[in-house]
Amino acid sequence: MARSSSKAAPKTPAKPVYVLNGPNLNLLGQREPEIYGSTTLADIEKLVKTKAKALGLAVVCRQSNHEGELVDWIQEAREKAAAVILNAAAYSHTSIAIHDALATLDMPVIEVHISNVYKRESFRHHSTVSSVATGVICGLGTIGYELALEAVKSKL
Ligand code: DQA
Repeated sequence: MARSSSKAAPKTPAKPVYVLNGPNLNLLGQREPEIYGSTTLADIEKLVKTKAKALGLAVVCRQSNHEGELVDWIQEAREKAAAVILNAAAYSHTSIAIHDALATLDMPVIEVHISNVYKRESFRHHSTVSSVATGVICGLGTIGYELALEAVKSKL
């Protein structure tokens, strides 16, 4: 009797992972390359989509320079996303509004920073995101986004 193959493709959850990037990350590749490297945001989003596909995850990638828009997307994630990966950039150090929006989520939230913020200026050492994140990935460069997807996969 013919048997169906056990090597099925990974099952994609019905809801996507939101990968949200904050202010000035649209300038990656041009902005302080000695800190952030030469990889552009478009390159990162391509890497993220490839990695997500391999893991059987769907992703929605967005970037905004506006705090309120990030808050709107986090609120939208309450209904529409399975998890959130967030590099809130400079808002990580200042935004109580982003903290409060994340606190309403009942899903994995992974905070990502490309640079090691703890090796930099002291104003970068505090994050309003970390206390409402499932985990934090920091200082590993753009691979941090791929590691965040692996973390999400293990949590879903
Ligand atoms: C960053 C670190 C933040 O301190 C900074 O404001 C950024 C990028 C990072 O990915 O390393 O814009 O979040």
